[in-house]
Amino acid sequence: MTVELIQDIAEMQKITIGARIRGKSVGLVPTMGYLHKGHLSLVRLARREADFLVVSIFVNPTQFVEGEDYESYPRDAERDTRLLDREGVDAVFSPAVEEMYPRDYSTYVEVEDLTSVLCGRSRPGHFRGVTTVVAKLFNAVRPHFAVFGEKDFQQAIVIRRMVRDLNMGVRIVLGPIVRDEDGLALSSRNTYLTGAEREEARVIYRSLLEARRMVREGNTDAGEVTSAVRDMINAKRAGAVEYVKAVHPETLTELSVIDREAVIAVAARFGRARLIDNIRVGERS
Ligand code: PAJ
Repeated sequence: MTVELIQDIAEMQKITIGARIRGKSVGLVPTMGYLHKGHLSLVRLARREADFLVVSIFVNPTQFVEGEDYESYPRDAERDTRLLDREGVDAVFSPAVEEMYPRDYSTYVEVEDLTSVLCGRSRPGHFRGVTTVVAKLFNAVRPHFAVFGEKDFQQAIVIRRMVRDLNMGVRIVLGPIVRDEDGLALSSRNTYLTGAEREEARVIYRSLLEARRMVREGNTDAGEVTSAVRDMINAKRAGAVEYVKAVHPETLTELSVIDREAVIAVAARFGRARLIDNIRVGERS
């Protein structure tokens, strides 16, 4: 293996600051590991642009809300490292929890407004944990750019806002959602699905395609479009919708009329798994 494994923040900084001084462009792909093809598509996107590419693997405790799956979140560091080595990644940054959050840790980054809707409603404190860890990862790696997936659409918008508001000077690049052959968006949490739930969960993408079809055929009533999605998912034995909303792609404000480009975002439970997905509708979609 040629990929470098780094756990120490100071060492990480030394390496990438050195690369920057030598005029190399530094890219970062932040992940929580248990890598799938969605993660790897972001790595490939970043590999094309970065002279020095870092992928971080850190299951971040501060973004898991009380009662969520922090302890049981799937982990496989060996397999992840092997995959990243094969992708030609220069360094894997996987700090210990105590390295990122020492005992007297007390600083948090919070983006307001954008985090009070959609997933922010049911996961209070989640985005505060995400923005805090991403800010810390940026400080540890000092990347010129970082790549995030559109699958976690709200997360990407929130991070863009943080970078702009705090003048972090990191270019945020978004990669498209990677799906299984049957349409289900790849997610590390798909491992929680039983065979039957996995089968039923295909309805999520099918319902989003139906929403897009409705908009294409001229339906601009967001209530009707989101109800169609909700009903299709709730009709499944294991499916329980948490939210379906049509939102503005930049401000995340809820739209009642879909007369411009919009994003239909959905969160639903299938058994133990909480799954999210989204699709662009309207102009240009
Ligand atoms: P994680 O869920 O591991 O995802 C890491 C990155 O992969 C995120 O940018 C996410 O949007 C992207 N991703 C996940 N599934 C994808 C798919 N099917 N297609 C394309 N991209 C996909 O998101 C996180 O980790 C964390 O919140 C993190 C940003 C690392 C902060 O802890």
